[in-house]
This record gives sequence, C-alpha cells and structure tokens, in this order.
Amino acid sequence: MYKIVEKRQLAPQIYLMDVEAPRVAKSAKPGQFIIVKTDEKGERIPLTICDYDTVKGTVTIVFQTLGKSTLEMADYQAGDYFTDFAGPLGEASEFISEEIEALKQQKIIFVAGGVGTAPVYPQVKWLQQQGVQVDVIIGARNKEMVILEEELKALSARVYVTTDDGSYSRKGLVTDVLKELIDNGTRYDHVIAIGPMIMMKFVAKLTKEYAIKTTISLNPIMVDGTGMCGACRVSVGDEIKFACVDGPEFDGHLVDFDEAMRRQAMYKTEEGREMLAMEK
Ligand code: NAD
Ligand code: FES
Repeated sequence: MYKIVEKRQLAPQIYLMDVEAPRVAKSAKPGQFIIVKTDEKGERIPLTICDYDTVKGTVTIVFQTLGKSTLEMADYQAGDYFTDFAGPLGEASEFISEEIEALKQQKIIFVAGGVGTAPVYPQVKWLQQQGVQVDVIIGARNKEMVILEEELKALSARVYVTTDDGSYSRKGLVTDVLKELIDNGTRYDHVIAIGPMIMMKFVAKLTKEYAIKTTISLNPIMVDGTGMCGACRVSVGDEIKFACVDGPEFDGHLVDFDEAMRRQAMYKTEEGREMLAMEK
C-alpha cells in the first residue's frame, strides 16, 4: 500500500500528490513514469514522474481528471492509500547518459503544454543540478491552467508563458513563441516537447523545418506497462515501438502522430478497443 502524504490542487482539474514509495523514489530518473491503481478493481493509470525525494522516500505525481479513474483518484486525500504504485517504468531522459560538459554547450528549450508541464519539471531540475540552464515555454488554455511557472523559474530557467485566450502573459500557442524565438535569432540545438499529442505534432513539424533535434514524450493508453499487451504501440520511423518499454521519449521527427492519435481515439470506444486487441 502506498500512502498519499500530500495533496494539492494546482489548477481546475489538475492535482499534485506526494506518495510514499521509497523503492520507486530511490531508483526514479527524470523522464520515467509510474502506473498507479487506486484499488484492486481500479484501472491502471500511467503518470510521468514529476519529482522524487530519496530522503523522504516520496514520488510526486500530477494528474488531470479526464475520466472515471482519474476522477476517483482526485477523491483521495492525504492519509489515503493507493493499492499499487508500480515503477519506475520506461527509459530515463536521454540527458542522463549525455556528457555534462557537452550538455552545457547546447542551447536547450522545453516546450510544455498544459499538464505536460509536470513531466518537464524533473528534467529541468536535473539539468539545473548539473549546471545546465535551459529555456522553457509553458502553454496553457488560460491563466488558471498555468502550472509550475514559479517552480520552474526557481530553477533559474528562462520561462516564457503563453495562453490560448491571452488571459495571462502573451496570447497564442507554444509554437508561435518557439517560432518567434528562432526567427529572432536564438539558435536552439535541442527541443523537448511534452504535452498533448496535437501540440507535439505541430512542434515537431515546426522544428523539422529548422532542422532542430526534437524529443517528445508520449503518454498513450497503457494497460500492462510491460511491452506485452500492445496498447501503447507507436510507429517511429520504420519501426514499431512500445511507449511503455521503449519510451516514453522518442524522436519527434519520426513519430507517426496521426496514427497515435487515431489509436488514442479508438481506445475511447468498446468497439475500438476490441479492434486494437485483435492486432496482437
Ligand atoms: P491543452 O489542450 O490545454 O494544450 C496545452 C497547450 O498546448 C496549449 O495551450 C497550446 O499552447 C498547445 N497546443 C495545443 N494544441 C496545439 C496545436 N494544434 N498547435 C500548437 N500548439 C498547441 O493541454 P492539456 O489539456 O493540459 O493536455 C492534456 C493532454 O496532455 C492529455 O491528452 C494528456 O494525455 C496529455 N499529457 C501528455 C503528457 C506527456 O507526457 N506527453 C503528460 C501529461 C499530459
Ligand atoms: Fe502494454 Fe505498453 S502498455 S505494451
């Protein structure tokens, strides 16, 4: 059993929880994810790790209430327990295995969309701890939906915020800000985009035009999280990959986003799920 030690609401429908999971905290790395189950009968919910504290033995997760399971999860309070908290799963961010001196020479920018700002946080924190300063673009629907802006600024990141409706900071999409920065002469070596699939698709489309290396983090439907069920299948270049074991990060210029979005939509219906199950 995994105890919730803190719960906070970050924005409408977006919650942060610190969960006591010492074994996961000890081996977690930026970019990895966990699968949480509220109770025995609960659905398995994959969530990218937002932070971890090896001293306290806690792992921070951030989630948005999108359906029955996440709504149930949002009812849990500090002091309650999750039945299952499996992880860390997936591959760590590629930064972990890169030479720190080489990273310091690069101009890196993160593009964070909505609740996708949460998985950006541990990567920026890890890089800052290594002495690598980065830029971050946060895009949200409106002022209320902007999360972790102050926390990212506290890591000395240069943060640009944009809102779809212009209710805070500038008005526009993350791609508008990225294009403007590049066109104004900032030479980025690496873009990391994490957020809704459609956002990552258009960030990758833009950076392809400028030939900038781009990494995206997929958050597809997952069932077993072990590479066996095929639920999180994705086409990357000529290869078939499974986000749970091969990802969640992939080369944004190679991912077939249209197929991934079609599969995501199919999982929303019983018939679609049956069709996808027949693929295996
Ligand atoms: P959202 O719909 O509010 O979008 C966030 C920002 O993305 C927008 O403000 C905009 O700047 C940008 N964006 C959206 N559409 C765009 C387009 N067509 N072109 C360019 N930019 C665009 O985001 P949300 O509601 O917070 O997102 C929820 C989704 O994010 C869920 O589907 C969830 O699965 C996904 N998610 C992904 C990850 C991940 O690891 N990839 C993590 C958490 C959540
Ligand atoms: Fe089953 Fe990835 S979740 S293969």
